[in-house]
Amino acid sequence: MSAIPAIRRSVVLRRRPGGMPSRDDFELVEDAMPTPARGEVLTRTIWLSIDPYMRGRMSDRRSYAAPVAVGGVMTGVTVGEVLASGDAEFQPGDIVLGPRGWQTHIVSPAAELTRIDRPPAQRLPSLGAYLGVLGMPGVTAYTGMRDIGEPKPGETVVISAAAGAVGSVAGQLAKRAGARVVGIAGGAEKCLYVQEMLGFDDCVDYRVLDLDDALAAACPDGIDVYFENVGGAVQAAAFALLNPFARVPMCGLVAQYNESEPPPGPNLAFVVAKRVKIQGFLVFDKPERAAEWRELATPWVLDGSLRHREDVVDGLEEAPDALAGLLAGRNFGKMLVRVDAEPA
Ligand SMILES: NC(=O)c1ccc[n+]([C@@H]2O[C@H](COP(=O)([O-])OP(=O)(O)OC[C@H]3O[C@@H](n4cnc5c(N)ncnc54)[C@H](OP(=O)(O)O)[C@@H]3O)[C@@H](O)[C@H]2O)c1
Repeated sequence: MSAIPAIRRSVVLRRRPGGMPSRDDFELVEDAMPTPARGEVLTRTIWLSIDPYMRGRMSDRRSYAAPVAVGGVMTGVTVGEVLASGDAEFQPGDIVLGPRGWQTHIVSPAAELTRIDRPPAQRLPSLGAYLGVLGMPGVTAYTGMRDIGEPKPGETVVISAAAGAVGSVAGQLAKRAGARVVGIAGGAEKCLYVQEMLGFDDCVDYRVLDLDDALAAACPDGIDVYFENVGGAVQAAAFALLNPFARVPMCGLVAQYNESEPPPGPNLAFVVAKRVKIQGFLVFDKPERAAEWRELATPWVLDGSLRHREDVVDGLEEAPDALAGLLAGRNFGKMLVRVDAEPA
Protein backbone atom coordinates (compact mmCIF):
# COMPACT_ATOMS: atom_id res chain seq x y z
CA MET A 1 0.00 0.00 0.00
CA SER A 2 1.25 3.49 -0.84
CA ALA A 3 2.42 5.96 1.82
CA ILE A 4 0.48 9.20 2.38
CA PRO A 5 2.55 12.28 1.44
CA ALA A 6 2.23 15.56 3.35
CA ILE A 7 1.01 17.63 0.41
CA ARG A 8 -1.19 17.12 -2.60
CA ARG A 9 -1.29 18.88 -5.97
CA SER A 10 -4.42 20.12 -7.76
CA VAL A 11 -5.17 21.87 -11.03
CA VAL A 12 -7.57 24.80 -10.52
CA LEU A 13 -9.36 26.97 -13.07
CA ARG A 14 -7.54 30.33 -13.11
CA ARG A 15 -9.88 32.10 -15.56
CA ARG A 16 -12.62 31.29 -18.04
CA PRO A 17 -11.15 30.74 -21.54
CA GLY A 18 -12.40 32.70 -24.57
CA GLY A 19 -11.97 29.96 -27.19
CA MET A 20 -9.66 26.96 -27.08
CA PRO A 21 -8.40 26.52 -23.49
CA SER A 22 -4.67 26.98 -22.86
CA ARG A 23 -2.28 26.28 -19.99
CA ASP A 24 -2.67 29.88 -18.79
CA ASP A 25 -6.33 29.20 -17.95
CA PHE A 26 -5.20 26.75 -15.27
CA GLU A 27 -2.92 26.81 -12.24
CA LEU A 28 -1.18 24.00 -10.40
CA VAL A 29 -1.55 24.50 -6.64
CA GLU A 30 -0.50 22.59 -3.53
CA ASP A 31 -2.20 22.18 -0.16
CA ALA A 32 -1.87 20.02 2.93
CA MET A 33 -3.05 16.44 2.58
CA PRO A 34 -6.67 16.27 3.80
CA THR A 35 -7.94 13.61 6.19
CA PRO A 36 -11.18 11.80 5.35
CA ALA A 37 -14.04 12.39 7.80
CA ARG A 38 -16.56 9.72 8.72
CA GLY A 39 -18.21 8.41 5.52
CA GLU A 40 -15.36 9.74 3.36
CA VAL A 41 -12.42 8.11 1.60
CA LEU A 42 -8.97 9.47 0.66
CA THR A 43 -7.58 8.14 -2.62
CA ARG A 44 -4.37 8.60 -4.56
CA THR A 45 -5.19 9.25 -8.21
CA ILE A 46 -3.86 6.73 -10.71
CA TRP A 47 -5.83 7.64 -13.87
CA LEU A 48 -7.63 10.89 -14.68
CA SER A 49 -10.15 10.92 -17.54
CA ILE A 50 -10.05 13.89 -19.93
CA ASP A 51 -13.41 14.44 -21.64
CA PRO A 52 -14.98 17.04 -23.98
CA TYR A 53 -17.64 18.02 -21.39
CA MET A 54 -14.86 19.62 -19.30
CA ARG A 55 -14.79 22.54 -21.76
CA GLY A 56 -18.42 23.25 -20.82
CA ARG A 57 -17.58 23.25 -17.10
CA MET A 58 -14.98 25.97 -17.73
CA SER A 59 -17.68 28.29 -19.08
CA ASP A 60 -20.44 30.01 -17.15
CA ARG A 61 -22.90 29.62 -20.02
CA ARG A 62 -26.24 28.06 -19.02
CA SER A 63 -25.91 24.28 -19.08
CA TYR A 64 -27.27 21.07 -17.59
CA ALA A 65 -24.40 21.11 -15.06
CA ALA A 66 -22.93 23.85 -12.86
CA PRO A 67 -19.60 25.35 -13.99
CA VAL A 68 -16.35 24.94 -12.08
CA ALA A 69 -15.84 28.15 -10.04
CA VAL A 70 -12.85 30.31 -10.93
CA GLY A 71 -10.25 29.20 -8.39
CA GLY A 72 -12.01 25.84 -8.01
CA VAL A 73 -10.50 22.42 -8.71
CA MET A 74 -11.23 21.13 -12.23
CA THR A 75 -13.68 18.28 -12.26
CA GLY A 76 -12.99 14.85 -13.76
CA VAL A 77 -13.56 11.22 -12.94
CA THR A 78 -10.57 9.17 -11.78
CA VAL A 79 -9.46 5.68 -10.87
CA GLY A 80 -7.64 5.73 -7.55
CA GLU A 81 -6.23 3.65 -4.73
CA VAL A 82 -7.70 4.06 -1.26
CA LEU A 83 -5.08 5.40 1.19
CA ALA A 84 -7.32 6.06 4.20
CA SER A 85 -10.98 5.41 4.83
CA GLY A 86 -13.66 6.71 7.16
CA ASP A 87 -16.13 4.18 5.81
CA ALA A 88 -16.33 0.47 6.62
CA GLU A 89 -16.97 -0.43 2.93
CA PHE A 90 -13.48 0.68 1.85
CA GLN A 91 -10.04 -0.34 3.05
CA PRO A 92 -6.58 1.01 2.22
CA GLY A 93 -5.36 -0.70 -0.96
CA ASP A 94 -8.81 -0.92 -2.59
CA ILE A 95 -9.01 0.35 -6.17
CA VAL A 96 -12.02 2.55 -6.84
CA LEU A 97 -13.71 4.33 -9.72
CA GLY A 98 -15.33 7.68 -9.08
CA PRO A 99 -13.23 10.19 -7.12
CA ARG A 100 -13.67 13.55 -8.91
CA GLY A 101 -11.00 16.14 -9.52
CA TRP A 102 -7.77 17.04 -11.30
CA GLN A 103 -5.85 16.18 -8.15
CA THR A 104 -3.13 13.81 -7.03
CA HIS A 105 -5.20 12.97 -3.92
CA ILE A 106 -8.96 13.27 -3.46
CA VAL A 107 -11.34 13.02 -0.51
CA SER A 108 -14.77 11.74 -1.67
CA PRO A 109 -17.99 10.60 -0.07
CA ALA A 110 -17.88 6.78 0.02
CA ALA A 111 -21.32 6.66 -1.64
CA GLU A 112 -19.81 8.08 -4.88
CA LEU A 113 -17.22 5.29 -5.27
CA THR A 114 -17.36 1.93 -7.04
CA ARG A 115 -14.84 -0.80 -6.20
CA ILE A 116 -13.04 -2.23 -9.21
CA ASP A 117 -10.31 -4.30 -7.59
CA ARG A 118 -11.94 -7.71 -7.91
CA PRO A 119 -11.74 -10.06 -10.92
CA PRO A 120 -11.85 -9.52 -13.82
CA ALA A 121 -10.22 -6.09 -13.33
CA GLN A 122 -6.81 -7.72 -12.80
CA ARG A 123 -6.94 -9.30 -16.25
CA LEU A 124 -7.29 -5.96 -18.04
CA PRO A 125 -4.08 -4.49 -19.45
CA SER A 126 -4.83 -1.22 -17.64
CA LEU A 127 -7.33 0.04 -15.10
CA GLY A 128 -7.70 3.08 -17.38
CA ALA A 129 -10.23 0.97 -19.31
CA TYR A 130 -12.72 1.83 -16.55
CA LEU A 131 -12.60 5.46 -17.73
CA GLY A 132 -12.95 4.56 -21.42
CA VAL A 133 -14.36 1.48 -23.04
CA LEU A 134 -15.85 0.13 -19.77
CA GLY A 135 -16.53 3.57 -18.32
CA MET A 136 -18.53 6.69 -19.10
CA PRO A 137 -17.73 6.87 -22.86
CA GLY A 138 -18.61 3.18 -23.32
CA VAL A 139 -21.86 3.62 -21.40
CA THR A 140 -22.64 6.67 -23.54
CA ALA A 141 -22.22 4.73 -26.77
CA TYR A 142 -24.28 1.85 -25.40
CA THR A 143 -27.10 4.11 -24.16
CA GLY A 144 -27.29 6.06 -27.42
CA MET A 145 -27.32 2.96 -29.59
CA ARG A 146 -29.54 0.83 -27.40
CA ASP A 147 -32.19 3.40 -26.51
CA ILE A 148 -32.25 5.70 -29.55
CA GLY A 149 -30.23 4.44 -32.52
CA GLU A 150 -31.50 0.83 -32.42
CA PRO A 151 -29.53 -0.29 -35.50
CA LYS A 152 -30.97 -3.20 -37.47
CA PRO A 153 -29.24 -5.74 -39.75
CA GLY A 154 -28.54 -4.26 -43.17
CA GLU A 155 -29.10 -0.65 -42.14
CA THR A 156 -26.48 2.04 -42.71
CA VAL A 157 -25.12 3.60 -39.52
CA VAL A 158 -22.83 6.64 -39.59
CA ILE A 159 -20.68 7.61 -36.61
CA SER A 160 -18.87 10.95 -36.29
CA ALA A 161 -15.67 11.26 -34.22
CA ALA A 162 -15.47 7.57 -35.07
CA ALA A 163 -11.92 6.98 -33.78
CA GLY A 164 -12.73 8.50 -30.39
CA ALA A 165 -13.76 7.01 -27.08
CA VAL A 166 -17.54 7.11 -27.67
CA GLY A 167 -17.55 6.76 -31.46
CA SER A 168 -15.32 3.69 -31.54
CA VAL A 169 -17.68 1.79 -29.22
CA ALA A 170 -20.87 3.08 -30.90
CA GLY A 171 -19.66 1.82 -34.27
CA GLN A 172 -18.63 -1.60 -32.95
CA LEU A 173 -22.04 -1.98 -31.34
CA ALA A 174 -23.72 -1.19 -34.66
CA LYS A 175 -21.51 -3.81 -36.35
CA ARG A 176 -22.56 -6.35 -33.74
CA ALA A 177 -26.17 -5.51 -34.59
CA GLY A 178 -25.49 -6.43 -38.23
CA ALA A 179 -25.50 -2.91 -39.68
CA ARG A 180 -23.20 -1.49 -42.34
CA VAL A 181 -21.12 1.06 -40.44
CA VAL A 182 -19.42 4.15 -41.85
CA GLY A 183 -17.17 6.32 -39.70
CA ILE A 184 -16.20 9.97 -40.09
CA ALA A 185 -12.81 10.89 -38.62
CA GLY A 186 -9.98 13.40 -39.01
CA GLY A 187 -6.96 12.11 -40.91
CA ALA A 188 -5.85 9.04 -42.85
CA GLU A 189 -4.32 7.32 -39.81
CA LYS A 190 -7.54 7.50 -37.81
CA CYS A 191 -9.62 6.35 -40.80
CA LEU A 192 -7.31 3.38 -41.34
CA TYR A 193 -7.63 2.45 -37.65
CA VAL A 194 -11.44 2.76 -37.81
CA GLN A 195 -11.61 0.32 -40.70
CA GLU A 196 -8.74 -2.06 -40.00
CA MET A 197 -8.88 -2.28 -36.20
CA LEU A 198 -12.46 -1.40 -35.34
CA GLY A 199 -13.94 -3.24 -38.33
CA PHE A 200 -16.10 -0.42 -39.73
CA ASP A 201 -17.05 -0.96 -43.38
CA ASP A 202 -15.84 2.46 -44.49
CA CYS A 203 -14.47 5.70 -43.06
CA VAL A 204 -14.53 9.21 -44.49
CA ASP A 205 -11.76 11.69 -43.69
CA TYR A 206 -13.64 14.97 -43.27
CA ARG A 207 -10.45 17.02 -43.26
CA VAL A 208 -9.21 16.32 -46.76
CA LEU A 209 -12.18 15.13 -48.79
CA ASP A 210 -15.21 16.99 -49.99
CA LEU A 211 -17.29 15.67 -47.13
CA ASP A 212 -20.72 15.87 -48.77
CA ASP A 213 -19.60 13.93 -51.85
CA ALA A 214 -17.45 11.46 -49.94
CA LEU A 215 -20.17 10.64 -47.42
CA ALA A 216 -22.79 10.25 -50.16
CA ALA A 217 -20.45 7.85 -51.97
CA ALA A 218 -19.86 5.86 -48.77
CA CYS A 219 -23.61 5.66 -48.06
CA PRO A 220 -25.27 4.74 -51.37
CA ASP A 221 -28.44 3.62 -49.54
CA GLY A 222 -28.64 6.74 -47.36
CA ILE A 223 -28.28 6.80 -43.56
CA ASP A 224 -30.62 5.02 -41.15
CA VAL A 225 -28.80 5.92 -37.92
CA TYR A 226 -26.51 8.93 -37.47
CA PHE A 227 -24.69 8.93 -34.12
CA GLU A 228 -23.91 12.61 -33.62
CA ASN A 229 -20.71 13.49 -31.77
CA VAL A 230 -19.56 16.56 -33.67
CA GLY A 231 -22.10 19.01 -35.19
CA GLY A 232 -21.23 21.71 -37.73
CA ALA A 233 -20.32 20.74 -41.29
CA VAL A 234 -20.15 17.05 -40.37
CA GLN A 235 -23.73 17.15 -39.11
CA ALA A 236 -24.94 18.97 -42.23
CA ALA A 237 -23.39 16.32 -44.48
CA ALA A 238 -24.96 13.46 -42.51
CA PHE A 239 -28.40 15.08 -42.13
CA ALA A 240 -28.61 15.53 -45.91
CA LEU A 241 -28.46 11.76 -46.36
CA LEU A 242 -30.94 10.65 -43.67
CA ASN A 243 -33.52 8.11 -44.80
CA PRO A 244 -37.21 8.12 -43.85
CA PHE A 245 -37.59 6.99 -40.23
CA ALA A 246 -33.90 7.54 -39.51
CA ARG A 247 -32.79 7.86 -35.88
CA VAL A 248 -30.25 10.39 -34.63
CA PRO A 249 -28.86 9.92 -31.10
CA MET A 250 -27.63 13.45 -30.29
CA CYS A 251 -24.63 12.67 -28.13
CA GLY A 252 -22.41 15.74 -28.44
CA LEU A 253 -21.37 18.68 -30.60
CA VAL A 254 -17.65 18.90 -29.96
CA ALA A 255 -17.03 21.11 -33.03
CA GLN A 256 -18.78 24.01 -31.29
CA TYR A 257 -17.57 23.74 -27.68
CA ASN A 258 -14.98 26.48 -28.18
CA GLU A 259 -17.32 28.83 -30.06
CA SER A 260 -18.74 31.79 -28.16
CA GLU A 261 -21.90 31.94 -30.31
CA PRO A 262 -23.93 28.88 -31.36
CA PRO A 263 -23.98 28.36 -35.16
CA PRO A 264 -27.08 29.33 -37.18
CA GLY A 265 -29.71 26.61 -36.84
CA PRO A 266 -30.18 23.97 -39.55
CA ASN A 267 -33.30 23.81 -41.72
CA LEU A 268 -35.15 20.95 -40.06
CA ALA A 269 -38.02 20.67 -42.55
CA PHE A 270 -36.73 17.22 -43.53
CA VAL A 271 -37.39 15.94 -39.99
CA VAL A 272 -41.12 16.17 -40.65
CA ALA A 273 -41.04 14.98 -44.24
CA LYS A 274 -38.88 11.98 -43.41
CA ARG A 275 -40.30 11.33 -39.91
CA VAL A 276 -36.77 11.39 -38.48
CA LYS A 277 -36.30 10.86 -34.75
CA ILE A 278 -33.62 13.16 -33.30
CA GLN A 279 -33.14 12.67 -29.60
CA GLY A 280 -30.60 14.14 -27.23
CA PHE A 281 -29.43 12.11 -24.24
CA LEU A 282 -27.00 12.30 -21.35
CA VAL A 283 -25.06 9.31 -20.13
CA PHE A 284 -26.59 9.52 -16.65
CA ASP A 285 -30.25 9.56 -17.84
CA LYS A 286 -30.50 5.85 -17.11
CA PRO A 287 -28.07 5.12 -14.25
CA GLU A 288 -28.70 1.37 -14.54
CA ARG A 289 -26.97 1.34 -17.96
CA ALA A 290 -23.49 1.71 -16.35
CA ALA A 291 -23.49 -1.62 -14.50
CA GLU A 292 -25.38 -3.25 -17.38
CA TRP A 293 -22.70 -2.11 -19.83
CA ARG A 294 -19.79 -3.25 -17.64
CA GLU A 295 -21.41 -6.68 -17.34
CA LEU A 296 -22.01 -6.93 -21.10
CA ALA A 297 -18.76 -5.41 -22.36
CA THR A 298 -16.14 -6.80 -19.96
CA PRO A 299 -16.06 -10.26 -21.61
CA TRP A 300 -15.79 -8.58 -25.03
CA VAL A 301 -12.86 -6.46 -23.86
CA LEU A 302 -11.18 -9.50 -22.30
CA ASP A 303 -11.61 -11.68 -25.41
CA GLY A 304 -10.44 -8.82 -27.65
CA SER A 305 -13.65 -8.59 -29.69
CA LEU A 306 -14.37 -5.04 -28.46
CA ARG A 307 -11.36 -3.00 -29.55
CA HIS A 308 -10.24 0.08 -27.67
CA ARG A 309 -7.31 2.40 -27.63
CA GLU A 310 -6.04 4.80 -24.99
CA ASP A 311 -4.03 7.98 -25.57
CA VAL A 312 -1.98 8.42 -22.39
CA VAL A 313 0.00 11.42 -21.13
CA ASP A 314 1.99 11.29 -17.90
CA GLY A 315 1.69 13.76 -15.03
CA LEU A 316 -1.16 15.84 -13.61
CA GLU A 317 0.48 19.03 -14.94
CA GLU A 318 -0.12 17.75 -18.49
CA ALA A 319 -3.93 17.65 -18.04
CA PRO A 320 -4.55 21.17 -19.49
CA ASP A 321 -2.70 20.36 -22.73
CA ALA A 322 -4.46 17.00 -22.90
CA LEU A 323 -7.85 18.75 -22.81
CA ALA A 324 -6.83 21.28 -25.48
CA GLY A 325 -5.50 18.43 -27.64
CA LEU A 326 -8.74 16.50 -27.29
CA LEU A 327 -10.79 19.51 -28.40
CA ALA A 328 -8.51 19.94 -31.42
CA GLY A 329 -8.65 16.26 -32.41
CA ARG A 330 -5.00 15.55 -31.48
CA ASN A 331 -6.01 12.64 -29.26
CA PHE A 332 -6.06 9.18 -30.80
CA GLY A 333 -8.32 7.09 -28.58
CA LYS A 334 -9.61 7.69 -25.06
CA MET A 335 -7.67 10.61 -23.54
CA LEU A 336 -6.20 9.71 -20.15
CA VAL A 337 -3.70 11.25 -17.77
CA ARG A 338 -1.57 8.79 -15.81
CA VAL A 339 -1.21 10.72 -12.56
CA ASP A 340 0.56 7.92 -10.70
CA ALA A 341 1.50 4.26 -11.20
CA GLU A 342 -0.93 1.37 -10.90
CA PRO A 343 -0.21 -0.87 -7.90
CA ALA A 344 2.30 -3.62 -8.72
N1 LIG B 1 -24.33 12.79 -24.12
C1 LIG B 1 -23.46 12.36 -23.22
O1 LIG B 1 -23.81 12.01 -22.08
C2 LIG B 1 -22.01 12.30 -23.60
C3 LIG B 1 -21.09 11.58 -22.82
C4 LIG B 1 -19.75 11.50 -23.25
C5 LIG B 1 -19.36 12.15 -24.42
N2 LIG B 1 -20.28 12.86 -25.12
C6 LIG B 1 -19.90 13.53 -26.37
O2 LIG B 1 -19.41 12.54 -27.26
C7 LIG B 1 -18.52 13.16 -28.19
C8 LIG B 1 -17.23 12.33 -28.24
O3 LIG B 1 -16.61 12.37 -26.96
P1 LIG B 1 -15.35 11.44 -26.64
O4 LIG B 1 -15.12 11.48 -25.19
O5 LIG B 1 -15.51 10.14 -27.31
O6 LIG B 1 -14.17 12.25 -27.33
P2 LIG B 1 -13.20 11.71 -28.48
O7 LIG B 1 -14.05 11.38 -29.67
O8 LIG B 1 -12.30 10.68 -27.94
O9 LIG B 1 -12.36 13.03 -28.78
C9 LIG B 1 -12.94 14.13 -29.37
C10 LIG B 1 -12.81 14.02 -30.90
O10 LIG B 1 -13.71 14.95 -31.50
C11 LIG B 1 -13.24 15.22 -32.79
N3 LIG B 1 -13.34 16.66 -33.08
C12 LIG B 1 -12.90 17.66 -32.32
N4 LIG B 1 -13.18 18.84 -32.92
C13 LIG B 1 -13.80 18.55 -34.08
C14 LIG B 1 -14.33 19.33 -35.13
N5 LIG B 1 -14.26 20.69 -35.12
N6 LIG B 1 -14.94 18.71 -36.17
C15 LIG B 1 -15.01 17.36 -36.18
N7 LIG B 1 -14.51 16.55 -35.21
C16 LIG B 1 -13.92 17.15 -34.17
C17 LIG B 1 -11.77 14.80 -32.86
O11 LIG B 1 -11.70 13.63 -33.66
P3 LIG B 1 -11.22 13.75 -35.20
O12 LIG B 1 -9.75 13.87 -35.17
O13 LIG B 1 -11.71 12.51 -35.80
O14 LIG B 1 -11.85 15.00 -35.71
C18 LIG B 1 -11.45 14.44 -31.42
O15 LIG B 1 -10.50 13.40 -31.34
C19 LIG B 1 -18.33 14.60 -27.71
O16 LIG B 1 -19.18 15.44 -28.44
C20 LIG B 1 -18.77 14.53 -26.27
O17 LIG B 1 -19.20 15.78 -25.78
C21 LIG B 1 -21.58 12.95 -24.72
